[in-house]
Parts: sequence; C-alpha cells; structure tokens
Amino acid sequence: TWSLQDFITQKIEEIRKKVGNDKAIIALSGGVDSSVAAVLMHKAIGNNLKAVFVDHALLRLNEENDVRSIFKEIMGLDLTVVNARERFLTKLKNVSEPEKKRKIIGEEFIRVFEEESKKFSDAKYLIQGTIYSDVIESAASGKKTAKIKSHHNVGGLPEDINFEIIEPLRNLFKDEVRNVGEILGIPKHILYRHPFPGPGLAIRIIEDITEEKLEILKKVDNIFIETLRDTGWYNKVWQAFAVLTPIKTVGVVGDERSYEYVVSLRSVDSVEGMTADWSRIPFEVLDKASRRITNEVKGVGRVVYDITSKPPSTIEWE
Ligand code: XMP
Repeated sequence: TWSLQDFITQKIEEIRKKVGNDKAIIALSGGVDSSVAAVLMHKAIGNNLKAVFVDHALLRLNEENDVRSIFKEIMGLDLTVVNARERFLTKLKNVSEPEKKRKIIGEEFIRVFEEESKKFSDAKYLIQGTIYSDVIESAASGKKTAKIKSHHNVGGLPEDINFEIIEPLRNLFKDEVRNVGEILGIPKHILYRHPFPGPGLAIRIIEDITEEKLEILKKVDNIFIETLRDTGWYNKVWQAFAVLTPIKTVGVVGDERSYEYVVSLRSVDSVEGMTADWSRIPFEVLDKASRRITNEVKGVGRVVYDITSKPPSTIEWE
C-alpha cells in the first residue's frame, strides 16, 4: 500500500533527477508547509537549496531565533535570515487601514525576497509550499467569491524573475504534510502550530503600528499561548492569539489611577478557517491568562475575550 514513506522516497528521487546539480531557493516562513517543503528539498539536494527567512518585525516573540535554531542548527539547512525590520516598520509608520497594511507588507516582502534571490542568481528553481487545499482554493476563488481580505501568501512571486517552480507538497492534504514532517524529523511544535497570517502582528495591532505596541502585543500573545499549552488547550483549538486595541481604559494599580491599553484574546474552533466558532475555553484558563497579562505586561490595563463567531466576524480583527 501507498505510504507517506514511499511518497518521500519517490519525491526525493524525482527532485534529484529534475534538479541535478542546479540550485534552488525557498522562502521559509516558519509555517508548517514551507518548513516541510524546505526540509524535504534539503533531503533531496542538500546545500544546493538556499532557504531565505525574512524577519519583517511582525513576528511572534522569539520567532526569528526559533526558526534560526531549528532549521539552521538542528536541520542543517543553509538558511539566510534577512533582517528587514527597519524597512517594514518605516513603510508601515502611521498606516492604520488594514488593506493598506497588507498591501505594503506584501509588496515589501516581494522586494526583499527579490533582492535576496538576486544573490542566488545561479538558482534555477523556486520552491513553494503549496498544498492541495491551496490548489483547490485558488481554483475555486473565481469572480463569484467576494474578496473580503486580500490574503497575501508569503512567497508571492516577483514577476520578472525567471525561476522554474517546484511544489513538492502539491498533492498532499494538511495532515499528510504534517506526517511527512514528522517522518523527516521536524519538531512537533512546528508541525502542529496554529496558522499565522502572512502580515503577522500588523493586522493584530488595530490602527497604527509602533515598536512599543509590537513589544506589548508579543508579550501578551506569548502569555496567552503559554497558558493554553500549560493547560492542554493549545491543541484543542484551531487558532488562538491576542489583539492590541487602540483603546485605553482606566484602572487602579496600588492606590494610583492607571490609564492603559485594552487587549483582546481570541480563540476559534474551525476546520479550514472559512467559518469559525469562538472556543469555549474554561473561565479558569482565561483567568490565568488575564492575571498573568496584567501582572507581567506593562501598558496593558484590561483583558477581554472575543465571543463572536465567523460569520459575522472574521477570525482576525483586521
Ligand atoms: P479571517 O480573518 O479572514 O482569517 O477570518 C481566516 C484565516 O486566514 C488568516 N488570514 C491571513 N493569512 N494573509 C494570510 O496569509 C492574510 O492577509 C490573512 N488574513 C487572515 C487568519 O489568520 C485565519 O487563519
């Protein structure tokens, strides 16, 4: 019978035959699909694969270091981490409109990746982590579906660059991709992590983005996720995260009046993100997260939990 081990063996063989001694590049996002694609390609062609990770400053706490240590040090990938923080934050300064944020990030990402790929001008192939559901989705997204949000998929292609595209996971379902990842030795916390949007924390900071707000949101998000992991809830929900609102409210700390930001925790149960129901996380778990957040994160004075489903809301706030 057909097993994923056979798939891996055959794919590696097929890639080796196709690529030969040429070089290939991939944009690694730290998400499940690009991670599995990168490691599978690396098994096939070794250091003829160059992986590029763009740090756009809108990542979760310690994400850039995690990605570096997992893929470079543990998996032995030839990984280039591009520090593009300044560039993105400068472009995003004073921008509040959600679609404008997405557009700026999508365009800037392509520009950065393009610059990097010029350094690998000898590369003939571009690897993409497309999986079966992406193929279906883009086939289905004709003019009939209203465009609610412009989903920019990290890895959007520079048009004037002539790479041949290889999509090694194109025929696999998500759970198969994860199983392939397990067989290839990718750590479980990478393979079973929640989806994370390409524009990252930019669309979870309502209104304009500043370094101060990013620092606050990263800490809040991290505490919420840690709490879910500690209580066994992380793997029971489809996606969970925090949102920083631009609202400040009054509180009391010691015997002083405080005036600090409101954050919202959001957790949803879903199959593919098209519809979603808010997760019925126990009050004790939410309580734990809320207390830690207000104790540990300076600048946050109030924590709320989002109890709207999709529709009518979307999962992200922007
Ligand atoms: P919404 O907010 O549309 O989110 O209900 C559905 C799923 O898509 C993710 N999402 C995005 N992913 N670029 C992405 O790559 C985007 O601009 C984007 N907006 C939303 C969201 O995190 C959820 O998993």
